[in-house]
Amino acid sequence: MATTFKPPKISTTDFLILGAGVAGLRAALDLSQQGRVLMVAKGGPQDNNSFFAQGGVAVALSEEDDVDLHFTDTLKAGHQLCSRPATKVLVEEGPLRIFELIEWGANFDTIDGKLAFTKEGAHSRHRVLRAGGDATGSEMVRALGAKARELPNLTWMGNHFGVELLLQDGRCCGASVLNELTGEVQWILASAVLLATGGAGQVYARTTNPPNATGDGIAMAYRAGAVLEDMEFVQFHPTSLYLPSSPPFLLTEALRGEGGILRNNRCERFMKHYHRDQELAPRDIVSRAIWAEMQRTKARHVYLDVTHLGSHFLKDRFPTIYATCLRYDIDITEEWIPVSPSAHYFMGGVKTDLHGATSLPGLFAAGEVACSGVHGANRLGSNSLLEGLVFGYRAAQAASQFGSSQKIPTSPVEPVVLSKKRHPLSLQDIEKLRNSLRRLMWTKVGLVRTGDSLKKAIDQLEGWSRKLSAPPLTRSALETRNMMQVGLCIAEAANWRENSVGAHFREDFPIYKGTKWKMHSQRQMAPNAPSDTSRSSRQGARLNR
Ligand code: FUM
Repeated sequence: MATTFKPPKISTTDFLILGAGVAGLRAALDLSQQGRVLMVAKGGPQDNNSFFAQGGVAVALSEEDDVDLHFTDTLKAGHQLCSRPATKVLVEEGPLRIFELIEWGANFDTIDGKLAFTKEGAHSRHRVLRAGGDATGSEMVRALGAKARELPNLTWMGNHFGVELLLQDGRCCGASVLNELTGEVQWILASAVLLATGGAGQVYARTTNPPNATGDGIAMAYRAGAVLEDMEFVQFHPTSLYLPSSPPFLLTEALRGEGGILRNNRCERFMKHYHRDQELAPRDIVSRAIWAEMQRTKARHVYLDVTHLGSHFLKDRFPTIYATCLRYDIDITEEWIPVSPSAHYFMGGVKTDLHGATSLPGLFAAGEVACSGVHGANRLGSNSLLEGLVFGYRAAQAASQFGSSQKIPTSPVEPVVLSKKRHPLSLQDIEKLRNSLRRLMWTKVGLVRTGDSLKKAIDQLEGWSRKLSAPPLTRSALETRNMMQVGLCIAEAANWRENSVGAHFREDFPIYKGTKWKMHSQRQMAPNAPSDTSRSSRQGARLNR
């Protein structure tokens, strides 16, 4: 049985940021002008999805482009399920956020002294900026981090895992965090909290995401009563390395943007059968085309052929990919690369307004953890780093305004229930559960879903979740609980959406039907409900605007 656990240590700050990718860092830069900022993240400063982003950041700055075209492409890729106001904000404010970043020292690649733009799938123009060839995310994190280190008001606390959000009188006023190294828990109280914890790709057996993408922010916000939106929309990247001995390393869409070709195991170039833009069709279409070819030819992967692009060009333009593939004994200048789709990005998440405010007062969210509405049912590639900058900035403005009218609580808030007792499952059992969950999500809640597969997944996930309702206080066990909850929310939302749109494909409802496709699914935990079954979740929906 769970017991009420009062951690011995309580500290305060004006603003608490959970997560340290592009959105969190961008927010920190502004919040630290307004007060003390504590930035808490599990692992180190490079353990976030932003750091691993390869292809680039989309922004309407090239001579052939304008913000209206960027807006239209984003809506089209998102199957008209994007929020128009949020998308307008994204494309219009994006250029300013990029110029600012360049001023702070970000080194984007140039050609003849001008910013270099590449084209990716579903972009009608050359629009994607890059850094270090295929290392855009790490350069953006570096530049923001360097700027952040100049700020006296900003404190970094790595190797700390956010366990629960703390509530008082219906508002979020902090979080309990676990020191990953000592096992100690402390409460951090703040006048406003910003979630920037990234996505949840690890709930799938195959993912391009790093190991820390376990949906912690989404699960925490959900348990605290915040509304989640569009959880069924999970983007599967078409091309990740497929080798039995390697993790599914991302092979950026820019490889296809530069002329890379997809071939099946009969050497046929197949994309012409699926979309007129062939390899540069929207991601959801390319991923499902690859899937269909794998089924048709009974293969575990297809191939990405870039050999015709030339050795010098490939080594110079894609140095990280060239070196990584070579480590796995694939010389991309000479050999076709075995690829298959992998879970890549969450369009859904904690619902936010245009200012990053969630439905829970005092709680703000930005970046992949949030559902700001800019991605609709299928994200336009390379829009996410821009989203992190634009909405990280906006969330900081709103959080600082909110915080200025609030006092930081000085006494403990609503108790958090955590188990101190010996858990019936060993840590090894929990690790096994995590692996089973990832396999289940991949096979039953993956790229192609059916009502049957989803119901089976929900039953199984509910059983597993109950076993983990009060997990041991270790990072890995708490992550597994979060993954279980996020998985259940995805499966439930996918089961609710009886149509196929964007990244959500139901084999039993393969075409749009009626008007339900225009709806956004919403989930919220019923007050006082146990968090471990879908029955504790209230399903709602709203029409797109
Ligand atoms: O293909 C890529 O480089 C991925 C970019 C993105 O997810 O935005």
